[in-house]
Amino acid sequence: MEPLIEVKNLSQEFHLTKGLLQSLRFEKGKLIKEDKVVHAVNSVNFQIQKGEVFSLVGESGCGKSTTARTIIRLLEPTGGQVLYKGKDISHLSAKELLPYRKSMQMIFQDPYASLNPRQRVEEIIMEPLLFHGIAKTRSEARERCMDILKRVGIRPEQAGRYPHQFSGGQRQRIGIARALAVNPEFIIADEPVSALDVSIQAQILNLLMDLKDEFNFSYLFIAHDLSVVRHISDRLGVMYLGSIVELGDKHALFGNPVHPYTKVLFSAVPTVGEKPLVESIEAQGEIPSPVNLPKGCYFSDRCPYATEKCRREKPVLKEIEPGHLAACHML
Ligand SMILES: Nc1ncnc2c1ncn2[C@@H]1O[C@H](COP(=O)(O)OP(=O)(O)OP(=O)(O)O)[C@@H](O)[C@H]1O
Ligand SMILES: [Mg+2]
Repeated sequence: MEPLIEVKNLSQEFHLTKGLLQSLRFEKGKLIKEDKVVHAVNSVNFQIQKGEVFSLVGESGCGKSTTARTIIRLLEPTGGQVLYKGKDISHLSAKELLPYRKSMQMIFQDPYASLNPRQRVEEIIMEPLLFHGIAKTRSEARERCMDILKRVGIRPEQAGRYPHQFSGGQRQRIGIARALAVNPEFIIADEPVSALDVSIQAQILNLLMDLKDEFNFSYLFIAHDLSVVRHISDRLGVMYLGSIVELGDKHALFGNPVHPYTKVLFSAVPTVGEKPLVESIEAQGEIPSPVNLPKGCYFSDRCPYATEKCRREKPVLKEIEPGHLAACHML
């Protein structure tokens, strides 16, 4: 089956522009202009099928949000491709992207920052409906807006209010309603509950999962909380320094994590009364900067098992068992 989303060798770099004087340095008697580049995403490959929940996990700064923002074309990739139902959308113009803007929606971590504080909720939801021509008239848009609000648990009589008049959880419901309004097929949820009260998180996650079942859309889900990821994902990818080090079905990954970094990440999860996910492994030192990527395997200078080969050659993802891939020379 053709995947809904296919990410091929996707890379994203940011050039850190400094003043001309700060970026000049002498080397062997010559003046050299130095350009610092953040290698945020490095040749990432994965696919998301229709109706599937695919999650990205990894420590802060490993490139999860940048990958998401590049897939949804908030950023143009600096390398590789994003295919949507087989069509390469990596370098489409704003106009060519319009139909995809409707099909791909994003739910943000901070619903307050992503909702226009000066718009009433009904305007927030009706605007994309009218813009994309999903509703032909304002009354049609209003009717659809009210249906969607009801579906996400907001009462229609609250539609005339402004975002600040709602609680955090309700605001996230409004953010979800806005995404839902345009009939998307693919939703990126980047830390959708981490800004919310713990007591509210489960309600919002349940809402997201119910909507998926009802509308059969696919999710790219990003969360710090591995127990949440374990609960809601079908498959996941583990990222380290902008690369995927392990990828597979959640049962395979949580049941049998094989990459040393995955083990480090998973062994940091506190387990209450349960058997720990993996034997405890600790990484040495700090995560290197994505400005100066290590040679060879990006994890090599922190990995307790690294050999000479690991420091020389970057391992590629290979199949460990059907559908379970890892990038490690030791496997
Ligand atoms: N616009 C930008 N300009 C320069 N560097 C950036 C930019 N956006 C992200 N980065 C850098 O790219 C790397 C990846 O960042 P990203 O936000 O994708 O990580 P993340 O995995 O989402 O982290 P978190 O879990 O904290 O949200 C980081 O080193 C970050 O500092
Ligand atoms: Mg992020």
